[in-house]
Amino acid sequence: MVRIAPSILTSDFARLDKEVHALEEAGADWIHLDVMDGHFVPNLTFGPPVIAALRKVTRLPLDTHLMIEDPDQWIETYREAGADGITVHAEACRHLHRTIHHIRETGARVGVSLNPATPLSTLEEVLSDVDLVLIMTVNPGFGGQTFIPGSVARISRLAQTLRGVQSDALIQVDGGIDGETARAVVAAGADVLVAGNYVFSARSMTDAIEALRRAGTEGLKQRPGSSSKVV
Ligand code: DX5
Ligand code: ZN
Repeated sequence: MVRIAPSILTSDFARLDKEVHALEEAGADWIHLDVMDGHFVPNLTFGPPVIAALRKVTRLPLDTHLMIEDPDQWIETYREAGADGITVHAEACRHLHRTIHHIRETGARVGVSLNPATPLSTLEEVLSDVDLVLIMTVNPGFGGQTFIPGSVARISRLAQTLRGVQSDALIQVDGGIDGETARAVVAAGADVLVAGNYVFSARSMTDAIEALRRAGTEGLKQRPGSSSKVV
């Protein structure tokens, strides 16, 4: 089963509760929250108060993508605000193993993200410690960018590596995901699709999410012999 995690980055921040309720109605599985600090990425979005406010208006899992420097100092704060998943960038962690276990201790889903130029081998020693690997298919910071084509092969390599170490970590993909790229990344091994612009620029959010789900189902059929992970 492929999970759809719309990102609210390109939603109307003046009506966030309505936007999140619309995502619920439209069949989203998770809400992807792009936290940006203006240092790790050249953009600034929102922080714990917004997570806490959204926690009060939705029961969907809040999947927080921390595009911030020194995430260690914020992990408890995001968990207390209501984050279900906490994903940090390997590039922002001086002691990644310690940060991963710090997230684990809070009870949140443990995610690590890699920017497009960061080698998969960065995660070699921690693959069995994480619940999710977030592969950036654009350079982080903005919605509506173009999918980086080389990402598909990268996702295949990661899926193969995870199988090799018997890790059941989910592969999440983020950036430029639409009806076409969704099929390709799921066929390569993606389990969770983040989509911002494709969902929020669509005439119907429901149609957009259904199109992503259909594309995901197509992609699952094209996987070389492996069944999809239950998430
Ligand atoms: C970019 C964010 C993505 C982005 C995806 O830094 O991490 O989640 O919002 O947006 P689209 O789907 O519009 O590329
Ligand atoms: Zn994101």
